[in-house]
Amino acid sequence: MLAGEQGEPVRKAMEILLALGKIYGAEDLVPVTHVQIAGVSFKNLGEAGLEFLWEWADKGARVRVPTTLNPAGMDMAQWREMGIPLEFAHKQVAVVDAYLAMGVQRTLSCTPYLVGYRPGMGEHLAWSESSAVSFANSVLGARSNREGGPSALAAAITGRTPKYGLHLASARLAHYRVQVHCPLQNEADFGALGYLVGKRVRNGVPYFQLRTAAPDLTVVPGRDVEGMLKALGAAMAASGAVALYHVEGVTPEACRGGVLSPDALPIVVASLAEAFAALNGPAGTIDFVSIGCPHASLAEIEQVAHLLRGKRVQATLWVTAARQTREEAKQRGWVEIIEAAGGHVVADTCVVVAPVELLGFKSMATNSAKAAFYAPLHSGLSVRFGPLEECIQAALTGKWGT
Ligand code: F3S
Repeated sequence: MLAGEQGEPVRKAMEILLALGKIYGAEDLVPVTHVQIAGVSFKNLGEAGLEFLWEWADKGARVRVPTTLNPAGMDMAQWREMGIPLEFAHKQVAVVDAYLAMGVQRTLSCTPYLVGYRPGMGEHLAWSESSAVSFANSVLGARSNREGGPSALAAAITGRTPKYGLHLASARLAHYRVQVHCPLQNEADFGALGYLVGKRVRNGVPYFQLRTAAPDLTVVPGRDVEGMLKALGAAMAASGAVALYHVEGVTPEACRGGVLSPDALPIVVASLAEAFAALNGPAGTIDFVSIGCPHASLAEIEQVAHLLRGKRVQATLWVTAARQTREEAKQRGWVEIIEAAGGHVVADTCVVVAPVELLGFKSMATNSAKAAFYAPLHSGLSVRFGPLEECIQAALTGKWGT
């Protein structure tokens, strides 16, 4: 590949991977079964990113393993209804077209494990969305470093990635033992915990002992365990750079044992108040409510539909999800209930990568610690953060805490 026998794009992709491998001291490359590429929204890519992609596509670059895309900056079908400016929409379509030309699948979702591809234990991947990397490593026991856009694309073109970091068993040991002494009742609590721990351990590997929550997590019927872990991992990857965590008695590698370093540093979390204080701004009036960061599962959309049945929202409500999830929810009648209440189930995008600053919103309520962390920085919104029920209440009244 490096000699150029398989063409210029493959040579260039291999060059990128070898440079990366040298930086991180990789001794080998490892074949990957799946690639997930972030860096899809034109909001983040800009003109330079768009040109870069078309340069690859025009030179004939093609992916050789199944490859999916992170969310774009708009719903590719309903962008007009979202209020997306025409110029942005054109650029966004051009970005997605460049990926499609290279053979990438148009999933446009940060939850490829819900749609597109669900990796198994020990599978090597090259994923770039931080929350998805965390989920794949931690909840599914697959192996991926957090790739940048170009390195993920290079992995897709060559089918390989440098073997370092979380591809090696030695890097999967936890060096922090986190004892949680407060109750964790919902996705917002898990997100708040993730916010606190991510800030503390940065890119380390934490091992959670959820004394109070573990029984809830494992035995309460219908409890959306994956939804809680999705919120936990996304928040840790946002406030820190955690790409792998273990939960005693819950995640697969923790269940197998031997992943807690004997000299792990202890961390005790006795309260989540600091996280809720940091992630909540002063906004009393709410004009925008965002659910689905990471992208909502079917179970989450069902819950929103349940809370909205027969009611009417005052604020703009987005439930963001993969298009495939939206289609399945539609077939079950949940999208209709949400739309009848005045809400929207928006596919292909999310509140952080869409240009919401152009849509005139001032204040947002969300049940996602990750969205609450990024929205003030990325979109200039004043944010309220709390569990789903409180967010839906805010959508119905236009106010927080009523
Ligand atoms: Fe996904 Fe957007 Fe949140 S990409 S994890 S919904 S910031």
